[in-house]
Amino acid sequence: MESVEKIIEEKIQGKALVTANKKENTKKLFIESYGCQMNMNDSEIVAAILDKEGYNTTQILEEADLVLVNTCSIREKAETTIRRRLQKYNAVKKVNKKMKVGVLGCMAERLKEKFLEEEKIVDLVVGPDAYRDLPNLLQEVSEGRDAVNVILSKDETYGDVAPVRLNSNGVSAFVSITRGCDNMCTFCVVPFTRGRERSRDPKSILEEIQSMVDQNFKEITLLGQNVDSYLWFGGGLKKDFKKATEMAQATATDFAQLLDMCATEFPKTRFRFSTSNPQDMSLDVIHTMAKHKNICKYLHLPVQSGSNAMLKAMNRQHTREEYKELVDNIFRIVPEMSLSQDMIVGFCGETEQDHQDTLELMEYVKYDFGFMFAYSERPGTLAAKKLEDDIPFDVKKRRLQTVIDLQQKHALYRTQQHLGKTEEFLIEGTSKKDPNKWKGRNTQNTVAVFDKGAYKLGDFVLVKVEDCTSATLKGIALGYSDNN
Ligand code: SAH
Ligand code: F3S
Repeated sequence: MESVEKIIEEKIQGKALVTANKKENTKKLFIESYGCQMNMNDSEIVAAILDKEGYNTTQILEEADLVLVNTCSIREKAETTIRRRLQKYNAVKKVNKKMKVGVLGCMAERLKEKFLEEEKIVDLVVGPDAYRDLPNLLQEVSEGRDAVNVILSKDETYGDVAPVRLNSNGVSAFVSITRGCDNMCTFCVVPFTRGRERSRDPKSILEEIQSMVDQNFKEITLLGQNVDSYLWFGGGLKKDFKKATEMAQATATDFAQLLDMCATEFPKTRFRFSTSNPQDMSLDVIHTMAKHKNICKYLHLPVQSGSNAMLKAMNRQHTREEYKELVDNIFRIVPEMSLSQDMIVGFCGETEQDHQDTLELMEYVKYDFGFMFAYSERPGTLAAKKLEDDIPFDVKKRRLQTVIDLQQKHALYRTQQHLGKTEEFLIEGTSKKDPNKWKGRNTQNTVAVFDKGAYKLGDFVLVKVEDCTSATLKGIALGYSDNN
């Protein structure tokens, strides 16, 4: 696989986002997103809300009337990167004095009013559930007041906002299905920054997908911190399900059913989803994946550690044995499934044996892809309050490198399994390394590059795989697949 540092860098590197100019809008919005895919999708929701307020997006920071940065708090490094970015805005604001700067997302939620004190450049602070309030907050700012709204909601899902697709390749798009997380993993700041878990009405999900299909999108990724926990019973927090009426409980839609509905209604559209939490994953979901050709055979199934002691300290609600059993079941039901992990090394109290257990679990699964991190203590989390961040930096670094090296070996093993096979790839864009080649992904999420020929962006193409690295397949396009 690609260097993990690079992937992490790409994950947290903000990208200027653009949309087509609309004539009636006169103000310019520069919006950057850091962190997870959910943040990228939230920025699209924000762009839609501000589009109605007369804002077009721009890629040019210097000409912006409003700069918004959608922030990430997941690790300390992500926050440091954003603070550095604010310095850059500061320099630009010295020239472009009318420019206003707003902070969105998890750091806004975590730091609240403190942000205004700590970073003088910031005019408004808006948490992930308060984006509908942006027009009012901007009014406050224009009247010379600082504006803050970080109220977390019981039912906000932005279900009726049609996102303005930003930075889109026109082929794949994200659709959010749940917000928040109730799992309270002890290391994780997300439950504090994104609030309690709630699900979105399947009707509005299907409508959004329909509009994407009408615009010729070919692949939809359903997003949530914990998609397997999706449960629609008429609205409200997931934790209040038991208080719902009998009728509401009996007619509720779970994730397997939602997936089935999506795949059935849009048979030509590819579906992916992320993230699956092992403790909430049901075999129904795997059976639904097996049933539909258009649900991609790829699961992002973070485990965080292979050690039972660490899993317990992290408040992950399963053991290594249960995780292995889940993986066995997945491969039994869908033998061609590809799997990826998130792994945290150097969590509080992690011994050499715990680390070895992680390596052993990786050897057992042989993940196709992985995202690996050194533990970073986050203020306010249970781990920060109750456990000691006692693993020295150099030990964390060494363990991280060992885990990365092993993942690279497994990634190569997995890409090699594609050699000689002819598989369907969806063309998503031009290869970064060679402008004469397309890049596309197969159902397992593995990237291939091949000569462009007469094929176009968004085509489903059959490619014979002839060579590979640990990150990329190289092949020859043989023709269109029957999905076009
Ligand atoms: N909802 C997902 C994870 C969201 S955060 C799940 O079910 O696991 C994405 C990843 O960041 C996590 O899986 C974890 O590996 C990593 N992460 C979260 N908090 C972290 C911390 N404090 N230090 C290091 N990595 C962390
Ligand atoms: Fe975080 Fe665990 Fe939820 S990693 S997002 S608390 S599943």
